[in-house]
This record gives sequence, C-alpha cells and structure tokens, in this order.
Amino acid sequence: MKIRQAVIPAAGLGTRFLPATKVIPKEMMPIVDKPILQYMIEECAASGIERVVLVTAHGKHAMADHFDASPELEDMLERRGKDALLRNVKELQSLCEIVTVRQARPLGLGHAIGRGRVAVGREPFVVLLPDDMIDNPERPACRQLMDVYEEHGKSVVALMDVPPHQISWYGMVEHEPVSERVVLVKRAIEKPRPEDAPSNLGIVSRYLFTPEIFEAIDATPPGVGGEIQITDAINARAGQGEVMGLIFEGERFDAGDKLGFLEANVHYALKHPELGERFRQTLLDKLKG
Ligand code: G1P
Repeated sequence: MKIRQAVIPAAGLGTRFLPATKVIPKEMMPIVDKPILQYMIEECAASGIERVVLVTAHGKHAMADHFDASPELEDMLERRGKDALLRNVKELQSLCEIVTVRQARPLGLGHAIGRGRVAVGREPFVVLLPDDMIDNPERPACRQLMDVYEEHGKSVVALMDVPPHQISWYGMVEHEPVSERVVLVKRAIEKPRPEDAPSNLGIVSRYLFTPEIFEAIDATPPGVGGEIQITDAINARAGQGEVMGLIFEGERFDAGDKLGFLEANVHYALKHPELGERFRQTLLDKLKG
C-alpha cells in the first residue's frame, strides 16, 4: 500500500530549551531562517507524503498556523511587490495537508503516536520526531524507510551506531542482517544500561509503521519513566518478526539538545544559498580572533 501519511508527535513542553520555549513551541525554533518543523514537513513532501498528522497540545497552535494561509500578510507582500517572499509564504501551504490531533496529557511517545490513529486510519504511515534533523538532499530519511517497506511490507525503524556512553539515551535493538544496510529487528529495548544493550544499533527518530502498531500500543503498559514507550510496542511487533531496521544514510543533528541545535544551525547556514559564503568567512574570522 502506498504510504501517504506521516505522524509528527509535537505535544512536548520543550523544557530543555526554557526560557526560549516558554511561549514558542520548541518545534518552531528556527534553524537559520526556518522553524525545525518546516524541515520535517519538507522532508515529508520530498518523500512523497501528502498528509501530516501533527500531534499537538494546548498552547502550540503556532505550528499549524505556520502552514496555513495568512491573508493579511499575503496581501501586504503582494501590495509591496515582495514576490519572492510571497512565494515563500505561499509554498508553505502546498507542501502537505496538515491536520492536528491533541495529546491532552504527556503519557509518552507511544501514547502520542497512538493519538494519531483517529486521523491516520488503517494505513501504513511514517513517524518523524521533530527533535532530530536528518539531512540527505538526494534521498530523505523517510523515503529511505519507504523504500524498505516497499520491498519487505513490514514496519521499519531508522538505525544508527550509538557510541557506548550514549546507549542509555536510545531505544537499542537486537538484529539479524538482511542486506548491507537492512536488518530484521529481533528485539528492542528502551534506554538500556550499556551492559544490557543487545548491540550498538539504536533507533533514531524515523519510523514506518503498519497499522497493527496501534493495537501493540494499546497493549503496552507504562515502561521507562512511567511512560508508554513506542520502543516497547515495537518490541512486541519485533517478536512476531514484523519489524525491519535500516541503517539510514544522511547527516543527523539532535536539535533537541543545545549543542546539536547549534551544530544544525552551523550546518544549514554553511549550505544556505545567500548566507553560506559570508557565514563561512564570519566563522573563520571569529575562530581566528
Ligand atoms: C526517543 C525514543 C528512543 C529513540 C530516541 C531517538 O527518546 O524513546 O527510543 O531512540 O527518541 O530518536 P527521547 O530522545 O525522546 O528521550
């Protein structure tokens, strides 16, 4: 079945970035000149996704507004002949259809993804965690997962090598090789101690699920941190041989962490068509100075 939809869990409070995120949702923090969430929606659109289900919460309406029409602003840009800016603003509305559902209480990532069910229906779908940016202009990370699904017809998680000191930050997997970058996931454990990790491959922020994940989430009791963990639901599906893993290709930034956020800004600023060269020079001068 063609993958048309994505779920983006974005109901969190963003406490790691306070006070910046007291009023502004963390997903709206800009990387150079676009909010992080826009990079996610652009990745969806570039992967062929038509509809994005944003799982949101009280006080975070700026996220959906960003992709909606803004008649006053558009009229003003038109009157002033600011054609390039007008195009920019209008393009936001044509990337993907955006629908929102609410997660009223922060009961965990598994619970948030489960909230997507009312909008997604019985179709396979991708999930992007907006904390993590993955840059691959030729083959966006979501597209890479979709290609594995097209071949195997099973759920797929994005994987990467995790250094030992970071193992307790990730969902870690036990796996069997299938091809160079594809594995069959045998087991998944949320945030184990390094000595309990079954391998050094961890799950990173992009998932593709068949609709059976919703029943698995329903059956998942609270796990690490007292939250309903998506990794536990994945583990149940992996036990049935229904989960593949893909060691994705692309440059990844943990923009949910202050250092990763700054690194993402430097990365995208250096690539920026208008700013790149000047920014490179500014950085070099700064480092010399
Ligand atoms: C979440 C997931 C975890 C995953 C990680 C990175 O953790 O629970 O399994 O490995 O994202 O994408 P968080 O970073 O929200 O604590």
